[in-house]
Amino acid sequence: MSSHAPLDGKVAIVTGSGRGLGLAYAQELARQGAAVVVNDVDEATAAEAVASIEGEGGRAVAVVAPVGSTETAKKLVQTAVDTFGRLDILVTNAGVLRDTVLWKMTDDDFDTVINVHLRGTFTCVREAATYMRENQIPGRIICIGSPTGQRGNFGQTNYAAAKAGIVGMVRTWALELKKAGITANAVIPVAATAMTATVPYFAAAVEAEAAGEPMPAFFRHDLGFGTSDDVAGLISYLASDAAAGVTGQAIGIGGDRLQVWSHPEAVATAYHDGGWSYDDLASGFADAAGDLQSVGEKFPPLPEELQRPAPTGR
Ligand SMILES: NC(=O)c1ccc[n+]([C@@H]2O[C@H](COP(=O)([O-])OP(=O)(O)OC[C@H]3O[C@@H](n4cnc5c(N)ncnc54)[C@H](O)[C@@H]3O)[C@@H](O)[C@H]2O)c1
Repeated sequence: MSSHAPLDGKVAIVTGSGRGLGLAYAQELARQGAAVVVNDVDEATAAEAVASIEGEGGRAVAVVAPVGSTETAKKLVQTAVDTFGRLDILVTNAGVLRDTVLWKMTDDDFDTVINVHLRGTFTCVREAATYMRENQIPGRIICIGSPTGQRGNFGQTNYAAAKAGIVGMVRTWALELKKAGITANAVIPVAATAMTATVPYFAAAVEAEAAGEPMPAFFRHDLGFGTSDDVAGLISYLASDAAAGVTGQAIGIGGDRLQVWSHPEAVATAYHDGGWSYDDLASGFADAAGDLQSVGEKFPPLPEELQRPAPTGR
């Protein structure tokens, strides 16, 4: 590790970093000089993640605990401080899916996803930001959203709520933490992981990655879909001093593509003296509203050579 690594001397926590995107973030932050608190519910993958970082000459420690509770959040921050002396960077990445359409979604499906993603982000950021403010550390809060949170997605009521909520919290934290010099941003990743491996649309890309071949350009370029490592560079950039001026943003990344998402803004504004009655709306809504907003992700049609037969089963 060079003595000029951008994150030298910094300490990071990455939740859910035993595998997938979180593992890539933890490894990249370590490569750039940070000491990393790895976290997962799975003890074996957490231990392997620590070993992989140490094997490259980095510093890491594992906390095996489920994100969601205040207890885990406190344990994570305490471990960073006890083991490495401070905390500069928090990446809230841990996540689970319980996909099904609204009319089949149980209370447990809803609560599980909200607890890990939304409550887990809230409790961890509250703990980290409190520590950073008290110790006057111009920290970096990086939360993980999803295209589903930005646009909605069939079968993902719970996940859409959690991920949209996370971006809403990030906008609020950017305001609240500005004076302390702490940035808060959301990253909207897309990558081949266990989470996306079963989506038929991505099958040809997942297949290529599994075979150790480069992903077809259509996925990397047109769709912004690549490997976990493709996402990791943005995490270390946002964690660095170079990104001190970047806060309150939702930034999409995947494959060869980088995107800055807009935050909601009014796109049509109209006035009616005395307010809008039913009759005023019945006669005037279409003119006042203009083109209505679209929902759902926009997927370009898959080129024929990248189409795969639909899987049987669920
Ligand atoms: N893969 C994608 O394309 C994609 C797209 C958008 C958003 N995301 C988000 O990125 C994050 C990582 O996704 P991934 O694709 O790497 O998924 P993954 O399932 O491969 O990894 C998630 C990790 O989180 C761990 N985890 C689950 N619950 C936990 C808990 N309560 N506490 C601690 N760890 C827990 C899992 O054990 C696993 O190691 C998630 O927040 C996901 O919603 C992924």
